[in-house]
Amino acid sequence: MPISPVLSCIGAGRLGSTLCKLLAQQVTIGQILNSTALSSQQAVEFIGTGDPVDNLKQLKAADIWLIATPDEAIATSFKSLQATAILRPGDLVFHCSGVLDSTILTGSLMSCASLHPLHSFAEPQRSVDSFHGTPCAMEGDSAALAKLSALFSAIGARPFEINRDQKVLYHAAAVMSCNYLVTLLDIGDNILQAAGLEQPEPTDSPLRPLIEQTLQNYYASSAQRALTGPIARGDHDTVAAHLNALQTSSVGQPVWPDVFRSLGLASVALARRGKLAGSAPLERIEKLLQTDKTL
Ligand SMILES: NC(=O)c1ccc[n+]([C@@H]2O[C@H](COP(=O)([O-])OP(=O)(O)OC[C@H]3O[C@@H](n4cnc5c(N)ncnc54)[C@H](OP(=O)(O)O)[C@@H]3O)[C@@H](O)[C@H]2O)c1
Repeated sequence: MPISPVLSCIGAGRLGSTLCKLLAQQVTIGQILNSTALSSQQAVEFIGTGDPVDNLKQLKAADIWLIATPDEAIATSFKSLQATAILRPGDLVFHCSGVLDSTILTGSLMSCASLHPLHSFAEPQRSVDSFHGTPCAMEGDSAALAKLSALFSAIGARPFEINRDQKVLYHAAAVMSCNYLVTLLDIGDNILQAAGLEQPEPTDSPLRPLIEQTLQNYYASSAQRALTGPIARGDHDTVAAHLNALQTSSVGQPVWPDVFRSLGLASVALARRGKLAGSAPLERIEKLLQTDKTL
């Protein structure tokens, strides 16, 4: 039977401990090094295998190194790992930052990559249960990509290669559509509250069925077909009334009209692209949204 490679992890937090638990089916989990001994021990308990350590000097050789510290600690953790002199030519080192690329793991004969799962690792067990099907953006040297692609496909991920030079832009897309979507959902619920509705729990929000249906429409057809509402209809007066209400609400937040304007302008561009309304009404709406005067 082939011996499975050993994977050690520096920084087994939300992402690191989830990936180690999933990868334990494919590799032997070696050592786990967190900032504190207690945290290393807790990570190993969650993963179900591995040796907790609390000091770089205790690290032994491994075939694969996952550096899953917060982004700002990846480069220094890698340098500290290099300084231990246990890295061997051909060892694979990777990190999972969405915005940093593999060139921060430089100056070695190792195989290096970054692999960014498009997954929100809020709670490790929930992430273990829901990881299957997660797209993972990878870049790095070809040996690293081949190994990571095989490993991550085996745990149900969908690895794909990304152009290193465009990685920051790729990550901005993920932030805009995932993180900002949460902010937008929260704004919607807050505006309902300003309109006199009780503050709903997110699960009970009256907007929830509409939002879920919109997502279904988007993924079943296209952005142009999923866009409904006043901008898609070229209804200037309704857009003007909304903007006025957001600007004059006594309990409104100053950011609401700005968000409404920015997303409204993007919606005008989408409506134009899909020829959803005539060019004259869309132009009037665009002018309205570009002005910052209170109506
Ligand atoms: N969370 C997500 O949704 C997500 C999604 C995609 C990618 N990522 C990427 O995954 C990486 C980790 O993020 P995370 O959310 O899992 O972070 P996290 O939950 O904060 O975990 C970070 C872990 O790193 C340890 N650590 C911090 N500094 C260290 C050091 N100098 N040496 C050793 N261990 C150290 C911490 O140990 P202690 O517990 O002892 O402090 C903790 O266990 C980041 O690169 C992030 O960009 C995260």
